[in-house]
Amino acid sequence: MKEQIEKYTTEIQQTIISNAEELENFRLKFLSRKGIVNDLFEAFKAMPPEEKKVFGKVMNEFKNIAESKFNEAKDALESADEGAGLDFDFTLPGTPFNTGSRHPVSLVLKEINDIFQRIGFTIAKGPEIEDDWHNFTSLNFPLEHPARDMQDTFFIHKDAEDPTKDLALRTHTSSVQIRLMENNQPPLRSIMPGRVFRNEAISARSHCIFHQVEGLYVDENVSFADLKQTLYYFVQEMFGVGTEVRFRPSYFPFTEPSAEMDIQCKNCGGKGCNICKYSGWVEILGCGMVDPNVLENCGIDSNKYTGFAFGVGIERLAMNKYKIKDIRMFFENDVRLLSQFNSELN
Ligand code: DAH
Repeated sequence: MKEQIEKYTTEIQQTIISNAEELENFRLKFLSRKGIVNDLFEAFKAMPPEEKKVFGKVMNEFKNIAESKFNEAKDALESADEGAGLDFDFTLPGTPFNTGSRHPVSLVLKEINDIFQRIGFTIAKGPEIEDDWHNFTSLNFPLEHPARDMQDTFFIHKDAEDPTKDLALRTHTSSVQIRLMENNQPPLRSIMPGRVFRNEAISARSHCIFHQVEGLYVDENVSFADLKQTLYYFVQEMFGVGTEVRFRPSYFPFTEPSAEMDIQCKNCGGKGCNICKYSGWVEILGCGMVDPNVLENCGIDSNKYTGFAFGVGIERLAMNKYKIKDIRMFFENDVRLLSQFNSELN
């Protein structure tokens, strides 16, 4: 019997199982009810007790060898089956995966932040609900001054007795300049991005909500030349080297002198089109030297310090950069527009 077991052991070791049929044959031959392992155990049962002592261990080892062979072969065949799924054509188009995209306003905001951060401007923020002082009075809009009508305001609280207690949705980010100057002494060099609100009729060119980035630089000896050079650098970075700019005299209560800056129309390259009203130029921002009154209102010595400020309309800039003709499209969340900005995701 011992030789028989040795012979079967060698046979098991030499058997090659390479498919399901061979596996089943192996099972039938060795491990089924009428298989060799069972037969040997039947013979074992009939042995006299002294022989059982000797054979017990040998029998168990043999059974283990047969079972491990079967299990290993079964596992190997199963994992080969899983791999079978990989047998496909890698050149077929994949399943499209929608990653979403950044909103064009966010893209322009990010670009502006990056450009100004490169020349040492920090980013400051302020509240969207403002009091009269920060949105108007401190910026040199005295009560009852007609300049307040330049901006149609959404009031949240109108105080019948004391208009200085009025609360409104901020009409511009210039209010954040004031908060910055009230809480810090020069040198100050910051940009202030944010959402602003105006009670205006909604049309292709204006909306009641839009975004601005305010800029402020206050230090000793800051001049109008610094203002022009900073904004010129900004335009070259944003719209490409060689983009022409022009400054026109203007009026804002909080700057003296004040100007508006135009850039060459990107849509027609300056030749004239419906976007630039056939002038070749598009206005993108207001700017000027901070009025000494405004500095004093914030506790900054206007004999020692001067500063410049500017305010850029983001939608206006994005419309020009991406050739979007209607400002309302920024607020409609239409994926047909938004998905066009996928490639700019970073
Ligand atoms: N606050 C102005 C507006 O909303 C824009 C502006 C003009 C901001 C001149 C400034 C500035 O800081 O200096 O129309």
